[in-house]
Amino acid sequence: MKTYLITGGAGFIGSNFIHYIMKKYDDIFVINLDKLTYAGNLNNLKDIEDNKNYVFVKGDITDGKLVDSIFQKYDIDYVINFAAESHVDRSIENPMEFIRTNIEGTFVLLEAAKKAWLKGEKWEEGKKFLQVSTDEVYGSLGETGYFSEFTPLDPRSPYSSSKASADLLVKSYFETYQMPINITRCSNNYGPYQFPEKLIPLMINNCLSGKDLPVYGDGRNIRDWIYVEDHARAIDLVVNKGQIGQVYNIGGGNERTNIDIVKTIINALRDLLSDDDIRKERISEDKIKYVKDRKGHDRRYAIDSTKIKNELGWRAMTSFGEGIEFTVKWYLENSQWLDEVTSGAYEDYYKKMYIDR
Ligand code: NAD
Ligand code: DAU
Repeated sequence: MKTYLITGGAGFIGSNFIHYIMKKYDDIFVINLDKLTYAGNLNNLKDIEDNKNYVFVKGDITDGKLVDSIFQKYDIDYVINFAAESHVDRSIENPMEFIRTNIEGTFVLLEAAKKAWLKGEKWEEGKKFLQVSTDEVYGSLGETGYFSEFTPLDPRSPYSSSKASADLLVKSYFETYQMPINITRCSNNYGPYQFPEKLIPLMINNCLSGKDLPVYGDGRNIRDWIYVEDHARAIDLVVNKGQIGQVYNIGGGNERTNIDIVKTIINALRDLLSDDDIRKERISEDKIKYVKDRKGHDRRYAIDSTKIKNELGWRAMTSFGEGIEFTVKWYLENSQWLDEVTSGAYEDYYKKMYIDR
């Protein structure tokens, strides 16, 4: 029986990961520690809230007392740190929370795990701290090349700098104390439960609500898209089989320009909506509006996943076509989820970032 402390489990990737492991294993216990910021949503985990192998703790990863008390109450085997401020645009507007949660929070978790797991000079057997990181720590690529685990860190936004700082702290606990750690660096995820501030769900939501489709700069920036369940499977492999101290890159192998993504969503929605659905006629390329570029906008990300493929036998199993169709359908079928997360504070956010921009 393995006990997982999953932080940020009410967010997009964290909740998908919890679904994935709860379906896969009967013999695990999951503690989900989440502050429930604007991005955390317990509706993402409705189907497992009564599961006897799952408990939710509302709290902040920077709260050392709380984190220590969780380690005292439970014999934690794995920490998987998803908790973060995750949106680049918000980090440009207001970096403070990124420094606090992403750097200080990771430090608090490392210290608590060290206190609980290091007995004299020896680490308890079978423990691991997995830091969920991002390809953005490597910076921006030109037209060619890929990020490998040897690519020097070159973060360019407050978000990616805070993630790179956290990675370095995690690495330092391995080098200095031999703490059993892994770091995973994944490319852009998409799928169910993603908050509609990120490109794909924002475009789906805007199409459905008849809004313009804001494309930053020339729309030619490239991201390497991965379906969230493929990421979850990779994390599960790394936590169970990854070599201690190692970094693993995880990429979907689906490079797309942003404008291509937006057009793909328009087409997918038009295919899925029936002809008598009044939303259908509003969804068209005429709604695409090129807007002011993101400051310091990274041009291209592309991941070399050779290491995780060769060492752990991982492969992305979802093609971009399948993944996007499934995702668009999910948002259509879960309109209540979308309505709830786009009311209230979201409207203020949208106005500030897109209307008053
Ligand atoms: P998200 O914003 O959807 O979720 C973040 C979660 O963390 C939320 O539930 C939020 O409530 C929680 N949280 C925030 N601050 C907290 C704090 N101080 N204490 C406790 N909980 C807190 O993010 P996501 O897209 O699911 O990303 C999860 C992780 O994966 C992040 O670390 C991110 O950097 C990383 N990542 C994301 C992507 C991507 O494409 N979304 C790709 C690679 C890596
Ligand atoms: O690469 C992994 C990273 O991917 C994660 O670490 C981050 O947490 C995650 O937010 C994501 O960062 P990006 O900045 O790449 O994702 P975002 O969805 O914000 O933007 C994707 C691209 O689309 C980017 O080039 C900016 C552009 N964009 C985004 C939005 C929200 C637009 O053109 N219009 C938009 O409205």
